[in-house]
Amino acid sequence: MSFLELQDIHTHFTKKGGLIFQKDVETVKAVNGVTLSVKKGEILGLVGESGCGKSTLSRTVMQLIRPTSGKIVLDGEVLTDLRPADVRMRRLDFQMIFQDPYASLNPRMTVYSTLAEAIKQRHPDLKGEDLTAAIIKLMDTVGLDPRFIRKYPHEFSGGQRQRIAIARALAPEPKLIIADEPVSALDVSIQSQILNLLLDLRKTLDLTMIFISHDLSVVRYLADNIAVMHSGVIVEYGDSETIFNSPQDDYTRTLLAAIPHLA
Ligand SMILES: Nc1ncnc2c1ncn2[C@@H]1O[C@H](COP(=O)(O)OP(=O)(O)OP(=O)(O)O)[C@@H](O)[C@H]1O
Ligand SMILES: [Mg+2]
Repeated sequence: MSFLELQDIHTHFTKKGGLIFQKDVETVKAVNGVTLSVKKGEILGLVGESGCGKSTLSRTVMQLIRPTSGKIVLDGEVLTDLRPADVRMRRLDFQMIFQDPYASLNPRMTVYSTLAEAIKQRHPDLKGEDLTAAIIKLMDTVGLDPRFIRKYPHEFSGGQRQRIAIARALAPEPKLIIADEPVSALDVSIQSQILNLLLDLRKTLDLTMIFISHDLSVVRYLADNIAVMHSGVIVEYGDSETIFNSPQDDYTRTLLAAIPHLA
């Protein structure tokens, strides 16, 4: 059994409308029958063009949206069977890293407060020196100098801010990290530093991660396996090198052809 199993997931959005009676007028099939599995410690790359359903699929995995149908199993537990109250308890098991760390971090909170809040979600009783030690350890894990512990997000560079966001995601000791375009807003030189950090963390912490990107070259660098998504379905799945060297699907070939090559 895999660590994460998605079985025939459908997530449809229905718009309501009508002049007198509200009725369903339009259904967007954002995720339309996705079956995937992820092993413990694996990085799965999820790629596809804007609007193909990547974020909806990840929100469905995290149970932020309940799927219209299908089954999701994480670490032996069937998430899709959980009652709403129990779903809330499980939210800590999923943490996200977003594209824009500046927007996702609270500008009025220092690194200390941001990480303290995130650690306390899992360990509410931790305080004083123990809490500070846990924060310093996290900063160290993501390559941030602990001397910056009292600084605010605007005092950091974009890459450093993304390190804070990664530390915050790690703080509640999640089972699964979903990174949605985490390096797309960063300079190319900083991108590789953050990608290398994620690779290091996978090795040291045995992290399981779904890495979403429209950029296939980034995904190739990081992911063990790649799922190519198009119009709500996975059109191709395989290990990174196979997808790159012998893509089977026309849409995957189109994506590969769109990668700019250095002369
Ligand atoms: N809450 C919602 N209500 C209605 N439709 C939605 C909702 N969320 C997403 N959609 C639609 O579902 C489809 C998939 O959107 P989604 O955000 O999952 O795509 P994406 O692959 O993450 O795109 P991007 O690369 O731009 O982030 C789109 O047609 C979108 O308009
Ligand atoms: Mg998205």
